[in-house]
Amino acid sequence: MSVLVCGGAGYIGSHMVAELLENNEDVVVLDNFQKGHRDAVIGNVKVYEGDLRDRKILDKVLSENNIDAVIDFAADSLVGESVSEPLKYFNNNVGGTISLLQALKDYNVKNIVFSSTAATYGEPENIPILEGDKTFPTNPYGETKLTVEKILKWCDNAYGIKYTALRYFNAAGAHISGKIGEDHRPESHLIPIILQVALGKREKIMIFGNDYNTPDGTCVRDYIHVSDLASAHLLALNKLRQGGESKIYNLGNGKGFSVKEVIDVTKKITGIDIKAEIAPRRAGDPAVLIASSEKAIKELHWKPKYDSLETIIETAWNYHKNHINGYDK
Ligand code: UFG
Repeated sequence: MSVLVCGGAGYIGSHMVAELLENNEDVVVLDNFQKGHRDAVIGNVKVYEGDLRDRKILDKVLSENNIDAVIDFAADSLVGESVSEPLKYFNNNVGGTISLLQALKDYNVKNIVFSSTAATYGEPENIPILEGDKTFPTNPYGETKLTVEKILKWCDNAYGIKYTALRYFNAAGAHISGKIGEDHRPESHLIPIILQVALGKREKIMIFGNDYNTPDGTCVRDYIHVSDLASAHLLALNKLRQGGESKIYNLGNGKGFSVKEVIDVTKKITGIDIKAEIAPRRAGDPAVLIASSEKAIKELHWKPKYDSLETIIETAWNYHKNHINGYDK
């Protein structure tokens, strides 16, 4: 049996492929390579190029392989872009998953692990955030992921497709081998941008707002290592394979760090002075996002391995300093 990883050439998807191979799974990747990188898929993997909205490629992948489970990362994921182009986001993120689910139903594939997000909560009502807290997304990206979670619920009800939706907080870091890491175009995430300043590729980091209601005025986030996210997916997948029920879990470390703290830790790890400047707030940024991952720890027996911010940034630095231009040769 093989696991199909949709979006397996992306940042989290490529770390998922590595995790599956390390656990002796057969892996098939489907990616449209709009954001993914061919060199991010390492190891013995069958790769198909195509889009989830294209039924022909889904038929090809599902008829040529013996797939028993799918992990779906294929989506657009820029919060700001989702606000200016909501239709693009609903079309790709919701349309793509509907097309995938239709094919899974037709080919009798009953297990799916879905890549969801903390953005499903919007402005949180409690810290740490629990899975049962109010979901009121403040941007189309979060809305598309919440919409898919609802679609999954009804597909379980009607077709018996079992799902685990994993709501990630701030994915960060890179594979311990240093071979794969984070390379978004354009880059919008905090840690890779700070590391670009350390590498002299940017003059300074702009801190988006220092007047939030947080200890130092800058936004607080819960950074979770990308390989720890991958290990949670595999645990979730195996639980589904063993007859587990459909569930939703948060994935974070349960610890918050401010933008300034992340910059300070990065200075310490790189030994480089990183120039920072205060800029206006970025629209739609909640002040504090911290997960309670107790449910995943208890029910999936998930144990994050790289759970200190230092380790997360060290692994990211190890990737970036050896791949100054990311996946470009
Ligand atoms: N930030 C800066 N300067 C930058 C970039 C980011 O100050 O140049 C700040 C942001 O304002 C935010 C924090 O650093 O406070 C983290 O920002 P990221 O863009 O790295 O991550 P987000 O918290 O915005 O986004 C993450 C995921 C999204 C998900 C969102 C849920 O990347 O996919 O959490 O709220 F939707």
